[in-house]
Amino acid sequence: MKHVLVIGANGQLGQSLQHITDQYAECAMMFMGRAQCDLGDPHQLEAVFAQNNFDYCINSGAYTAVDLAEKDPEAAFKANTQGPEHLAKICAAHQVTLVHISTDYVFDGTATEPYDESTPTAPIGVYGKSKQEGEQAIQNHLKEHYIIRTSWLYGPFGNNFLTTMLRLAGQNKALTITTEQIGVPTSTLDLARAIMALISKETAPYGVYHYSNEGPTTWYGFAKEIFTQSGQIDTVQLASTEYYPTFAERPKYSVLDNHKFKSTLGIPGRHWREALSEVMTLL
Ligand SMILES: NC(=O)c1ccc[n+]([C@@H]2O[C@H](COP(=O)([O-])OP(=O)(O)OC[C@H]3O[C@@H](n4cnc5c(N)ncnc54)[C@H](OP(=O)(O)O)[C@@H]3O)[C@@H](O)[C@H]2O)c1
Repeated sequence: MKHVLVIGANGQLGQSLQHITDQYAECAMMFMGRAQCDLGDPHQLEAVFAQNNFDYCINSGAYTAVDLAEKDPEAAFKANTQGPEHLAKICAAHQVTLVHISTDYVFDGTATEPYDESTPTAPIGVYGKSKQEGEQAIQNHLKEHYIIRTSWLYGPFGNNFLTTMLRLAGQNKALTITTEQIGVPTSTLDLARAIMALISKETAPYGVYHYSNEGPTTWYGFAKEIFTQSGQIDTVQLASTEYYPTFAERPKYSVLDNHKFKSTLGIPGRHWREALSEVMTLL
């Protein structure tokens, strides 16, 4: 039996892990939200690890407000850099393997081909920088780590682009969605399964992995497919715009190359449209 702690259990990925992990009988899961396990509180983290005997820790907790991070970098670095650094040191002391989730925003978005794990990182905003430094802190303090970079997360739990689109369309709001960024929407359910596959495999080499669903699109393309699948495409007021102002700059291209993950785990990828249809059945 593998004993697995999930930090950030009430986020959209954390809740997806809670949803799927009863299918992994070989794993005894313990889920902790921020109140029980705060990345900003090293003493509490240490106590949680001292009182339990974990084999793995999945860190799905993070400061994820990309625009707000520009105004409050201290909060972003506390959760996304200093937190993972404490966590890595504690995992090293307790011989726990850390599975840490990172982001496509560690890249600057100037590429025209999918980013593989060897591409140098160059974040363009505070959120991406705080996540990049979190990755580095883990690499500096803990050999037994998996850093999984993913992109454009959405799922059946919590707030995300999918739930926002459906809510606004339900209020008859006119929607103007950007075509400026190219990336891959990724279901939190598929990411949760990918994480559990990595833990189940046991023999995957430590290091950085990219995991997303398959098929580049834009936010407008994603919105169009949401309304096609929800049956609202003929009634919703949906328009595209190349430029949509946001406080934080986003990478214009952030498609991840998933070959390393798929070949290591021996699993196929899944197109984001197919993943979306599964998520829609759970709303
Ligand atoms: N969302 C995306 O599009 C996206 C894309 C690529 C990568 N990622 C990465 O994927 C991971 C999961 O993201 P998500 O979308 O599931 O995020 P989310 O829904 O925003 O959930 C993050 C969770 O982390 C918790 N948290 C915040 N600060 C914490 C702290 N100091 N200690 C412990 N928990 C803390 C939050 O709790 P509170 O609600 O109480 O603050 C929340 O429950 C993150 O590492 C994120 O950086 C996300």
